[in-house]
Amino acid sequence: MPEAAYQNLDAQCADRVLTVRLNRPQARNALSNELIGELAAALRQADDAPAVGCIVLTGDEGCFSAGADIIELMGASPVSMIQRAPIALWECVSQTRKPVIAAVRGYALGGGLELALMCDIIIASDTARFALPEIALGLIPGAGGIQRLMRAAGKARAMELLLSGRRFSAQEALAMGLVSQLSPDAETLTSAQALAQAIAHQPLTAVMALKAAARQAFEAPLSAALASDRDLFSLLFASADAREGLNAFLERREPAFRHA
Ligand code: CAA
Repeated sequence: MPEAAYQNLDAQCADRVLTVRLNRPQARNALSNELIGELAAALRQADDAPAVGCIVLTGDEGCFSAGADIIELMGASPVSMIQRAPIALWECVSQTRKPVIAAVRGYALGGGLELALMCDIIIASDTARFALPEIALGLIPGAGGIQRLMRAAGKARAMELLLSGRRFSAQEALAMGLVSQLSPDAETLTSAQALAQAIAHQPLTAVMALKAAARQAFEAPLSAALASDRDLFSLLFASADAREGLNAFLERREPAFRHA
């Protein structure tokens, strides 16, 4: 089980759900290079662990994350950004092959929102606050926020939010389709964990194939994505869980998936 000791996060696995909590409260969970390195390691381990079926990524009650670590950004240069490509490592979240649900309470700002947008589903507290305020720092969102917000919210709304950098509410995020559900603050994490548990008990091979196929919606032309869906659909007939799911339906019983 991927519960190694980390300096900047906690990772706990229960009932096939790994909950990863960003834990740098003194800097409002700012995403330092060290934190992102630990997150990448935890997610890689989760992908490899048969006991994990779904991941919840969260912060604390007051703050999901305040974005990139501004003190580290102060020391950045084009040379260091090109040579070490620290932001590229953030894609560890979007590249995770198992589903990742962001449970957002409090602020998700800048890179914090970008990290949430890399997750498959965002569940937010009804008091959560979002923004991509990089423009006010003389920067632009560098970790995928521009492209992902354009796709999720549409051009006009995305451009307004990107160019103004203004904060927006959980209700606005829901209306835009960035967030799939809102819950009272005290229930946000448990709601995300309950959804993760339901996903984690679906047959793992099909879940991972579905996620791989869904990614193509943004990355491939339609004809190639449809062909890839058909290939993955065909391949799943080799999985024991597909046999079990089909048989269980015909035998009018609950399936007993082995995640194989
Ligand atoms: N990086 C580093 N440190 C940060 C930080 C960040 N992004 N955000 C907050 N902190 C630190 C503060 O400097 C402060 O440290 P000290 O106690 O040592 O002074 C501590 O966290 C607490 O911060 P505040 O006093 O500001 O706490 P608050 O509760 O009043 O406000 C907040 C919380 C609204 C999140 C506010 O801290 C804030 O607006 N943070 C910056 C948000 C931001 O601009 N994010 C964009 C970053 S750039 C980016 O993400 C680039 C990219 O695309 C990858």
